[in-house]
Amino acid sequence: MSSLIILVFLLQFAGVSGERVFLYFRPGQDATLPCDRVSPEETQCSHISWYHQSDQTKAVFEGNQGKVCQTSARAARLRLVTGCSLIINNITAEDVGRYGCLSENTADDDSYVFLSVLTISSSAADADAQTDDRITLTCSLLRYLQVPLCPENSLQWVNETGAVLSGEGVGYELNGKKGCGSSLTVTRQSGQNRRHTCRFVERGSVKIDAEYTAVFTGTDGSLSYVMLALRIAGLILMMVATVAAVMIIRDRRNKKQLEDSNVHTGTISAANTVTTSNAASTEIYENVNPSAAPMLN
Ligand SMILES: *[C@@H]1O[C@H](CO)[C@@H](O)[C@H](O)[C@H]1NC(C)=O
Ligand SMILES: *[C@@H]1O[C@H](CO)[C@@H](O)[C@H](O)[C@H]1NC(C)=O
Repeated sequence: MSSLIILVFLLQFAGVSGERVFLYFRPGQDATLPCDRVSPEETQCSHISWYHQSDQTKAVFEGNQGKVCQTSARAARLRLVTGCSLIINNITAEDVGRYGCLSENTADDDSYVFLSVLTISSSAADADAQTDDRITLTCSLLRYLQVPLCPENSLQWVNETGAVLSGEGVGYELNGKKGCGSSLTVTRQSGQNRRHTCRFVERGSVKIDAEYTAVFTGTDGSLSYVMLALRIAGLILMMVATVAAVMIIRDRRNKKQLEDSNVHTGTISAANTVTTSNAASTEIYENVNPSAAPMLN
């Protein structure tokens, strides 16, 4: 039933709506921008020009008289084909904007194609973050002038089973939206390699989606707790061993000093040596004292 509704929406809203076409891509895809000024079979495109506006202030000609403008920075990725359509290979964020198809033969308004790009990025791109238990995915829909603004709930996150995620749940946390962007924090709890999809939905139909598989490297959470406990235990053991070693050395040294001072300065100064010996030495003192006591007597 729901797929039928989506199909109806697709039929209703896909393709040309008047002279404004809205197209959605992911980076790396190839786009075909139709020119509404001519028939789809048209091969004579010498009266057709294409221009691109990334904002309202400037327009860059991409095609003139049916040929790609070699002055365009993107010339290598552009092609004009049958129907005077403009093909853009390997879409990037820079390709976002409004494209006008202009005919010299008509006084009609130019026909427009609005090209939007959905990007998804991950905090795991930082090498350090890869061993973290949390990976933050950021999804953005890049649009011409960002107008109209993305409607409420138009950017959605979906898990592997197709459930739309909201708020917080096992292994994930939605971090709210900003303009036409949304970010999701995935935790190790969700599983070792978990795929999440971000999608842009308009009037009930999915216009574009992009997926990302969060890969948690390193040890998993429960194991790292064990490792942490082991490390702490090891550290404590090392500290105890060090203190014990220091005490034994001090003990021996003090005994030796006592014997030496006994020989050279007599028993009184030997007692002083013991009481003034520093370094947490109540124990040392106690250890030494029994042997010192008989000498004081
Ligand atoms: C597409 O563009 C990206 C970055 O702009 C580049 O790294 C990649 O090599 C390009 N791919 C092709 C097939 O040209
Ligand atoms: C997807 O989300 C739903 C609802 O939160 C949950 O019941 C389901 O277990 C999740 N599936 C996976 C594979 O995480």
